[in-house]
Amino acid sequence: MDSILQDGFGRSIDYLRMSVTDRCDFRCVYCMAEDMTFLPRQQVLGLEELYRLAALFVRNGVKKIRLTGGEPLVRKGIVQLCAQIAALPGLRELVMTSNGSQLAKLAQPLADAGVKRLNISLDSLDAQRFRAITRTGDLAPVLAGIDVASAAGFARIKLNTVVMQGRNADEVLDLVDYAVNRGLDISFIEEMPLGEVGRSRGESYCSSDWVRERIAERYSLLDSAEQSGGPARYVRVRDFPASRIGFISPHSHNFCGTCNRVRLTVEGRLLLCLGHENSIDLRALLRRHPQSDAPLLQAIHVGLARKPLRHEFNVAGEVQVLRFMNASGG
Ligand code: GTP
Ligand code: 5AD
Ligand code: SF4
Repeated sequence: MDSILQDGFGRSIDYLRMSVTDRCDFRCVYCMAEDMTFLPRQQVLGLEELYRLAALFVRNGVKKIRLTGGEPLVRKGIVQLCAQIAALPGLRELVMTSNGSQLAKLAQPLADAGVKRLNISLDSLDAQRFRAITRTGDLAPVLAGIDVASAAGFARIKLNTVVMQGRNADEVLDLVDYAVNRGLDISFIEEMPLGEVGRSRGESYCSSDWVRERIAERYSLLDSAEQSGGPARYVRVRDFPASRIGFISPHSHNFCGTCNRVRLTVEGRLLLCLGHENSIDLRALLRRHPQSDAPLLQAIHVGLARKPLRHEFNVAGEVQVLRFMNASGG
């Protein structure tokens, strides 16, 4: 190993979230504004550049890489990139977060390429509501994609639900039924205020404790100390041993103290924290030094020393980070 990545607070960084595109076929109301402009092609890292950075991070102690977007599966060449990254010596797991729209076709190729786990967004089981939340998405192909993925040999599949009062909060129990009956995990997420999405997030805020109480009306929940290397706190469900329910609670249960991750945007900016604007421009260094990774590694260490202690998101949902979620790596 070339070096160990550590931030200024002594936290080890062994998890890299790489965004492979800012584009997406959906326009989810918590992620994007209705009318979005995406990055021009020349500003986007090429597949070889993404691979070079992945390899550099793994040589320096990163054990888990999550490919994100936008929607990672709309990036051409994604399966090949997965196969290359999955083969990096020292990487423990390559995982992906997807909106599910392309999974009927791509789940098996991804599993064959070495992607170990998939997280799939699913905010509603009602086609009209699904369309209202994603603005452009269709539910049926996503459900078909989840079925194909369930049979493709992934170690785990986790559904992600951003809970919003007035949109899907009354579906929490239906979503849990859906997950546990298929042996899937499901995480319920408190919405974070990134980018001006054109609606007030404070009004739809829904705490994880409220969600947990709703679930406990039907299921017996058992606390668990399990970790997936991400921010979720998990519970087990009596009589459904294959499933776990996760709570990702940026507002009500801050998890920054154990932060182990940084994000790479598809423009090559290393985001030190989801909740802050500060970043390091790796693209310029990557292109200026095609033969040597030393300047990149030095910049990464300098950046990590400046990683903020925590995000400052508030429940009222006031936007302090102008960058949208699709440009932030999810
Ligand atoms: P695993 O634990 O590996 O299953 O993944 P994950 O839950 O970390 O990743 P996923 O892409 O499924 O993200 C789920 C939610 O957690 C999304 O809303 C992310 O924005 C949020 N999240 C992930 N990492 C961070 C983080 O470092 N800070 C904050 N504030 N939110 C995060
Ligand atoms: N707050 C919380 N989670 C979000 N996601 C996207 N935007 C937000 C937001 N503003 C979730 C998606 C996806 C994951 C990458 O991030 O639901 O599952
Ligand atoms: Fe696309 Fe995911 Fe953003 Fe929805 S949350 S618009 S699926 S990137």
